[in-house]
Parts: sequence; structure tokens; C-alpha cells
Amino acid sequence: MHKVIFDTDPGVDDAMALLFLHQHPEIDLIGITTVFGNASVETTTRNALFLKREWQIDAPVAKGIPETFDPARAHAAWPTFVHGEDGLGNIGVPETIDLPIDPRPAHRFIIETVHAHPGEVTLIAVGRMTNLARALKEDPGIIGLVKAVIIMGGAFDTNGNVNPAAEANIHGDPEAADAVFTAAWPVTVVGLDVTTKTVMTRADLAAIVERGGARTQLLSDISQFYIDFYETRVPDGMLVHDSCACVYLVAPELFTIRKGAMRVVCGGIADGQTIQKPDDLGCGPSVWDGLPSQAACMEIDAPAVLKLVADTL
Ligand code: BDR
Ligand code: CA
Repeated sequence: MHKVIFDTDPGVDDAMALLFLHQHPEIDLIGITTVFGNASVETTTRNALFLKREWQIDAPVAKGIPETFDPARAHAAWPTFVHGEDGLGNIGVPETIDLPIDPRPAHRFIIETVHAHPGEVTLIAVGRMTNLARALKEDPGIIGLVKAVIIMGGAFDTNGNVNPAAEANIHGDPEAADAVFTAAWPVTVVGLDVTTKTVMTRADLAAIVERGGARTQLLSDISQFYIDFYETRVPDGMLVHDSCACVYLVAPELFTIRKGAMRVVCGGIADGQTIQKPDDLGCGPSVWDGLPSQAACMEIDAPAVLKLVADTL
């Protein structure tokens, strides 16, 4: 059984990923931590509580701190044109959800939960890396206690989706992502190199609703706005970025990885760009020496990933 803390900014594709984690028989979802990104952290936390209530998820929800990791960095604009004003496709989520929030801020929740289950917890982060970076900074001792870190974010050998070089989750807090990539814990990055190849069509979604009933009807309802956005970019469907990261946990054989040190460009015209120095790249001595070798997903068996998502939902 994989113990997972899901760090998320729901977000339409985040919602699908959450349902995947909840439904998968080999995953024990032990916490949901929220971060700003697709909307403010107030809104993403409200959305996490809404989805928890609708899907009867037991895991506690802990809310992130609203500030970026480096307080000098201003927030990027919320992408309301992708996920809607409410972050869930403008379906009319209630203003407040009457469920308790964990009293700890998200990063404290991560620290304490990792200590409670040494060597067992996988962190899956599909929003800004702010909570993970803050947890690392406050307690570097968790580095040796976390089983694995799986991230949706970044673009290594492909273009970004915020600027030509940067992907949204990294661009929204580059200093945080750089701290997470360069820490000596095992990181796997599931970025745009693979998620842009994973298109779920309207027909795929309709078939999921036919098999999954009410819980997937909600998923379909919140996805319509997002599909309309993506239809202008990919043929007949939507990208299920965050589910790809969750699939990696249970089916890593569906991905091809490249190992190497990773850094994030923090500032300038390539703000938020992710760069990897593959382990077999011969360079002279440089500031890249001595950094941990992390895994970047470069290829994906997209039909198999989409099938696993559909079967699980
Ligand atoms: C990422 O940004 C958000 O819009 C999605 O939820 C995903 O995590 C894709 O760039
Ligand atoms: Ca997300």
C-alpha cells in the first residue's frame, strides 16, 4: 500500500487526480495539503473540502500559507481562463463547506506526518512546490524520511505553457521548485514532456461517466469549462496533467525516465524554466556538480495511462 500526501491546487485536473488516488486500491491517501495556483489558497482549500465531501474522502485537509516561498516574489495571475473563477469550471461550488480543516498549516502537516511514518510516505505535488519547500526549510530532517517525491511540473525538452520556457506549477513559485529539485530526496518529475501527450477526449470522459455513476458525473460537470479551454489547443479533449503524476506512483513502467541534476531558472526572460543536466552529459566542472540526480519523465505510454485512469475512476 502506498501512503500518499497529495499536495494540490484544485483545479479541474487536480480533482480528477484526487479521485484517482481515492479510488485506487493500492493507495492509502493520508492527507491533502492545499496550495495557491489555479486559484487562491482560500479557493483551492474550499474546493478540496468540497471534493472531500462529495466523494466521501476520509483524508484530512491542511491549508497552505498564501505567500510564495521567497516573499519577494509576487504571485502569478490565477489562470481563471483555464479552470474557471471558482477553480472548478464555474459549476457553482458553495462559498463555504462545513467540514473541519486540519489546524496545522500544510507544511507542518507534511513534516509531522512524514515523521509519524518514516520511510513510508510519498509526496505527490501537483501545484506550486511552496508547501514542500517550506517543509524542507523548516525541517531538513524529512529529506531522509520521505519515501519518494513525485511532481507534476516543468518542461525539459518541450515548451512551457506560461512562457515559452516555463510550466505553470514551476513558474508560480520557481524558488520553491528549485529547493525541492536540489534536495537529496528522490524526485520524479512528470512534466509537460509527457503530460501534453496524454489527451482525454470528450468520448473518453463520457465512457468514464457511464461506468462510474454519480462521482464521475461531478468530474464531468467540472471538466466542461476546462475541455472548452483545451479544445483550442489539443484536438477534441483535455490534458490530464495531474493524473499522470499519480499514475506514475502505481505504474512507473508506463514512463521512460532520464536521470540527472535539475535546477530552475529564477528570474529573467526564462523565469521558471526547468533544466536538467543528464548524468551522461559531459560538461566541465561547474555549479551543477554534486547535485542529486533526479528523474525526469521523457516518454509515456499515453493510451495505457488513460486506460488506467478510466478503469480506476
Ligand atoms: C498544471 O497547472 C495547472 O493548471 C494544472 O492543475 C497542472 O497542475 C499544468 O501546467
Ligand atoms: Ca494542479
